[in-house]
Amino acid sequence: MKMKFEEELAGKAKEAEKIVLSYLPDDVKLCGTLTSAMNYSVGSGGKRLRPLILLHVYDVLSAAYAGATGRKCAECFAAALEMIHSYSLVHDDLPAMDNDTLRRNNPTVWVKYGEAMAVLAGDALLNYAYETAAGSFDMVDDALHYQLIAKALKYLGSKSGIYGMVGGQCVDVESEKKQIPLDKDALLYVHENKTGALLQASFVIGGILAGADDEELALLSDAALNTGIAFQIRDDILDVEGDEQILGKNIGSDEESGKSTYVSLFGLENAKKDATAYSQKALESIKRLNCDTSFLVSLVEYLTERKY
Ligand code: IPE
Ligand code: IPE
Ligand code: MG
Ligand code: MG
Ligand code: MG
Repeated sequence: MKMKFEEELAGKAKEAEKIVLSYLPDDVKLCGTLTSAMNYSVGSGGKRLRPLILLHVYDVLSAAYAGATGRKCAECFAAALEMIHSYSLVHDDLPAMDNDTLRRNNPTVWVKYGEAMAVLAGDALLNYAYETAAGSFDMVDDALHYQLIAKALKYLGSKSGIYGMVGGQCVDVESEKKQIPLDKDALLYVHENKTGALLQASFVIGGILAGADDEELALLSDAALNTGIAFQIRDDILDVEGDEQILGKNIGSDEESGKSTYVSLFGLENAKKDATAYSQKALESIKRLNCDTSFLVSLVEYLTERKY
């Protein structure tokens, strides 16, 4: 049973990766270093969770609702979301932020291309993401589908920016600079935003493009938020007790930069217990979805125990 899920997950990650890579830019004359750094960042592996979730949610819910945009549109958004996630990692690793040298088992972008190029590669990926997602307008020709794509774009912008990932990163970085540990509410704000928000984008945009109704979108949003908190708690645990080779990124990074993490605030055992509790909350929402939920249930259970 377990093996079967892991095979399915690997298959979905491979499919998502192929789609993401197909949207990467060609080399551009005179700024080849920039496109090379962008492609290095997105092309060098990773679990591809966000695009595979977006596509999976689209697939299972478009079967239940009429009026879906078409899978090609979902593929544009899946690629865009992975570009935004990759840009967030490129900037997150910079010396001015987490100062990390290893990502996805490769030197980080700033180590390989220099800090200025890492800043620009992140900027370029962010813009290229919206260019890619907006390409889905060319694939539809009626008002309802235009509206769904516009709604998805707005949601992507909101969850990537100040009301999402960037907002969470701001509090994360500021707390470190002030050297004052976060309280529980502030730490949850960080986890919900820096990590939960892009997972919300993956679940909810899959649902929006599938034509799902508001009740379904609310369940997707809750499921994703709790999955995101559990995911970041697990990330904090792996930073302490992970295996650098399996994880593919520096361990001990949080302690070195004096971060408030779920582990530094509550200890390893509470972190593990709470990661399971947030996953359970996510599962409660997932099980109420109007579709075959078996893959998402297994995915959330798997992520709670993940080693990378
Ligand atoms: C890393 O995300 C950053 C966090 C939000 C914890 P992932 O663990 O999904 O990274 P990749 O894409 O698999 O490398
Ligand atoms: C990162 O959190 C969240 C992002 C938005 C990139 P971390 O800083 O803990 O992620 P890792 O451990 O570097 O992947
Ligand atoms: Mg960080
Ligand atoms: Mg980091
Ligand atoms: Mg981390």
